[in-house]
Amino acid sequence: MRGKTIDILKQAMEEGYAVGAFNTSNLEITQGIVHAAHKLERPCIVQMTSNAMKYAGSNVLGDVVRSVIENDSDSVPVGFHLDHGKSLDHVMDAIEAGVDSVMIDGSSLRFKENLEITKRIVEYSHEREVTVQAELGRVPYLGREDQEINWDEVMTNPEEAKKLVDETGIDALAVGIGNAHGFFREREVPDWDRLEKIKALIPQTPLIMHGASDWTDDRVVQAIERGICCFNIDTDIRVAFITKICNITNSKCDTTDPRKVLGAARKNVKNKVVEKIKMFANQTKTEKTSE
Ligand code: G3H
Ligand code: 13P
Ligand code: ZN
Repeated sequence: MRGKTIDILKQAMEEGYAVGAFNTSNLEITQGIVHAAHKLERPCIVQMTSNAMKYAGSNVLGDVVRSVIENDSDSVPVGFHLDHGKSLDHVMDAIEAGVDSVMIDGSSLRFKENLEITKRIVEYSHEREVTVQAELGRVPYLGREDQEINWDEVMTNPEEAKKLVDETGIDALAVGIGNAHGFFREREVPDWDRLEKIKALIPQTPLIMHGASDWTDDRVVQAIERGICCFNIDTDIRVAFITKICNITNSKCDTTDPRKVLGAARKNVKNKVVEKIKMFANQTKTEKTSE
């Protein structure tokens, strides 16, 4: 069933676990994600980027996501979120497509400009009962960036984080503590002290960890203990989906039925998301084990 992203985040934050926000761009990935949440009876968030919206058509993808959530998950709340929106246009398109929450990623801007665009997006979105995640500091896309990362320059400044929350009224914040998108080199040890400072200064604001595909159990637990209540996963899902398709089509491909290939890829996404939801749940909650 549809859930509000902000309610899902706040409940996780208050109860000391985390949820996953998983990226989709098509029907099968969306179903893999929602079927995993349904199987475990645990909430999650489905999210799309502006590139995914461009690929599928924003209203088409929005209809697919909302329909899968409504039809395939009757007992568990699933939120629908715009990931890494970069402009008011992205936000407007995503809201029209039916998200209940948007991200405005002003992390490549100077602080003042990030604050200004974030404020504008909060005004626009809150008027439409849509909540807003901002990003401060930068979560690099290593692999898209060839230069060495100077982590001290890109990580979230805790005092600025407080200012951003106070002056814009954002509902959630993506933080940089040495995390990076994709399976690439991150800071050797996340800056846990920095995360603790951020949490102490903005205790009511859900904190989001982007670039979490390669985060292992021990890091996840430490991050949750210090206030992270949501991990973003895209790369791991892409790999689960594509690997299965390649395995089938690279071997002797004796089917002309796309449903056999895409159905298997969907199952692989579901298995991956089940693994992630269990890890983020801190493995303390009851799981439904049947298929
Ligand atoms: O963090 C966001 C994504 O991994 C990038 O996704 O290729 O859909 O823009 P995109
Ligand atoms: P990964 O690419 O590391 O999975 O990160 C996803 C993400 O942060 C989406 O916003
Ligand atoms: Zn991200």
